[in-house]
Amino acid sequence: MRAGDCVTAEALVALLLNDMRNDNSTHRVIQYLRHLAAGQEGGTRLPSVRALMRMLGAGPVTIAAAIRRLAEEGLVDARPGLGTFVAAPAEAKGPAAADLAWQTVALGPTRGSTEALAELALVPTPAALALNAGYLPEDLQAGTLIGAAAARALRRPGVWGRMPPEGLHALRAWFAVAADSFRPHEVTICPGTQAALAAAFRALALPGDPVLMESPTYVGALAAARAAGLRPVAVPIDESGLRPELLETSFRASGARLLYCQPTYANPTGAVLTAERRAAVLDIVHQAGAFAIEDDWARDFSLEGSAAPAPLAALDPAGHVILVRSLTKCAAPGLRIGAIAARGAALERLRAARLIDDFFVPGILQETAVQLVTAPAWERHLRRLRTALRARRDALAGELRRAFGPPCLAHLPAGGLHLWVRLPEGVSDIEACERARRADILVSAGRHWFPAEPPGSYLRLSFAALAPEAAGEAVARLVGAIG
Ligand SMILES: Cc1ncc(COP(=O)(O)O)c(C=O)c1O
Repeated sequence: MRAGDCVTAEALVALLLNDMRNDNSTHRVIQYLRHLAAGQEGGTRLPSVRALMRMLGAGPVTIAAAIRRLAEEGLVDARPGLGTFVAAPAEAKGPAAADLAWQTVALGPTRGSTEALAELALVPTPAALALNAGYLPEDLQAGTLIGAAAARALRRPGVWGRMPPEGLHALRAWFAVAADSFRPHEVTICPGTQAALAAAFRALALPGDPVLMESPTYVGALAAARAAGLRPVAVPIDESGLRPELLETSFRASGARLLYCQPTYANPTGAVLTAERRAAVLDIVHQAGAFAIEDDWARDFSLEGSAAPAPLAALDPAGHVILVRSLTKCAAPGLRIGAIAARGAALERLRAARLIDDFFVPGILQETAVQLVTAPAWERHLRRLRTALRARRDALAGELRRAFGPPCLAHLPAGGLHLWVRLPEGVSDIEACERARRADILVSAGRHWFPAEPPGSYLRLSFAALAPEAAGEAVARLVGAIG
């Protein structure tokens, strides 16, 4: 069978071919092959590389890249010397699957889904515009600096030995100064702040307890709280962050003793808690005899030239605020280093939880982190980063407002990595997300970010991964996908 014979939507393919002749990028080749493969049986032969080159006017490298990408997705089988074929469905391959149904019975109920989190952690293929990630793309990472820091770290004595469970003193001291409100002995080093959050939810509450959470909030925090058996209770926020009157009522109604919040450049909205509200929120937390986990992940992503407001923890000498900070976010995703700071019995409980989790963070990572943040070039990296992120934020926000109208963004976030986009009336976030994925643009559906019912349809877009000159193309793909 010739591939061209089996295409059902012939008109569409003709259009695509026409388009292809004007644009021979890998993306277009992928689109074309997807349409050829759609609905075909496994084993159907697709046109040869040479035929594709002739039909599409694309070079062999472009065609090979497109085939490789589709093979990685499991859509095609590329058999060297034989050709390219539509792949057989996964379940048809290999021996008959064992009956594992007993596991479902043995495991019982799940503690919430991690689907949304897995979506964020997805490593994108090269052709995709990855606006779903919460990390710096390669061109903004501190790769060269980390390489030099790792080389110095490797020469440190005892780097492969056992580390203190609370972390290296030099790194704890650096985090203490950066947090501006704790002393080194109150800081514990963690392999990223996700680990810090997971330990905090387990250490500071018992399964079944309520935990107040901003609505919307970070999906990773929601997943970690649920995995600890806690019950997230939504406290709606506006662009100035938590609303004190609603927070007070929520503490009273739920009896919660724990709040998770992001007062500075919240993920996903970018909201910043005003100075007045900071004082009010702390007062309410004190009155409730509660703890507040302050996730200060975005402090280094201040985009308007002024420093980020002091953390809530700086106003709290009484040990109510547990502060979490990330180095991973502003360095590179692979440098999994974060810190959690607390006082009193809460510190002891957190340290015990961390010890149970993994004893200590590898010395090579901690030493590399110390070498990195004490290098003179570190501050230069942060300055360059902020300038680049600001340009990316402005370009994407500008294109979005032009395409969807100004109300699609309630405000321009003064920091962070994300835009929180309200979709037009009647557009489902899940469908928009899925259609965007098919157009090779990855975004995150808003509903996952709400602890309870979403009040509207939103997408979270990360502007970090998108060079300013690519913003127009990204929004055009999004508009095309949403329709
Ligand atoms: C608000 C927030 N907190 C914590 C994390 C976890 O960051 P990491 O574990 O990489 O430090 C993330 C990552 O996306 C985040 O967005």
